[in-house]
Amino acid sequence: MKIEGSVALVTGANRGIGKAYVRALIERGARKVYATGRNPEALDIEGAEHIALDITNPAQIAAAAAIAGDTTILINNAGIATNQSLMFGDLDLIRLEMDTHFFGLLGMVRAFSPILAHNGGGAIVNMLSLTSWFSYPGAEAYSAAKAAAWSLTNSIRLELAKQNTLVVGVQLGATDTDMMRGIDMPKNDPANVANAALDAIEAGDWEVLADDMTRRIKSALSLDPKALYADLIG
Ligand SMILES: NC(=O)c1ccc[n+]([C@@H]2O[C@H](COP(=O)([O-])OP(=O)(O)OC[C@H]3O[C@@H](n4cnc5c(N)ncnc54)[C@H](OP(=O)(O)O)[C@@H]3O)[C@@H](O)[C@H]2O)c1
Repeated sequence: MKIEGSVALVTGANRGIGKAYVRALIERGARKVYATGRNPEALDIEGAEHIALDITNPAQIAAAAAIAGDTTILINNAGIATNQSLMFGDLDLIRLEMDTHFFGLLGMVRAFSPILAHNGGGAIVNMLSLTSWFSYPGAEAYSAAKAAAWSLTNSIRLELAKQNTLVVGVQLGATDTDMMRGIDMPKNDPANVANAALDAIEAGDWEVLADDMTRRIKSALSLDPKALYADLIG
């Protein structure tokens, strides 16, 4: 599949990696890009069509699907990081992590997969995180929700294979956006992450490993959990 000539819809497009996706899609010749966000006034990307879309709101998902019936690439980028502990955190925020990263994502996939099928199959990109494989202290609720999103990604890939829809999971560590503001560590450039995912669509790849930290975590997954988490529990 080519980016040039495609019609893409990006969630959470008003800032961060979502905005980088919209810019990269336009630069690479997408015929149309729907930049969506829960606050449409924050959407200001020249060359994109703007749609109000909160992925936790089923009515807004249905409305977006009614507008964007020509979509061939769905980029599920929207995400939150509430920094909640599973033991002591705010249960409403823990549920919001699941409502966003699991049920919101599922709602988008269910609304747009018939559209993608009708348009020849197309592609879905899900923004995951190395925390889907490895739980970080301070990001326990986020890690659990991203693990659910990773499992969802694998399951829908199998379910949608028969309609010829490519499903790409993007695994990444720290990337230079508001989500990681104030955290002092090496960070990916959002444009590089977006372009790596678009390259994966063109190559027909199932997974993107966006940085060395993610590659290290993936290669350590066959370790016994005691070894994997040894540095964290001392
Ligand atoms: N940055 C990193 O280091 C990193 C690492 C691993 C994975 N990721 C993942 O990459 C994706 C993009 O993250 P980012 O770094 O660009 O984060 P960001 O700068 O915080 O931006 C998050 C975007 O998601 C939107 N959003 C949140 N909840 C939404 C909802 N219910 N409906 C629609 N939009 C919603 C936000 O909209 P508002 O402006 O309205 O809040 C914003 O546009 C996320 O899925 C994130 O989990 C990021």
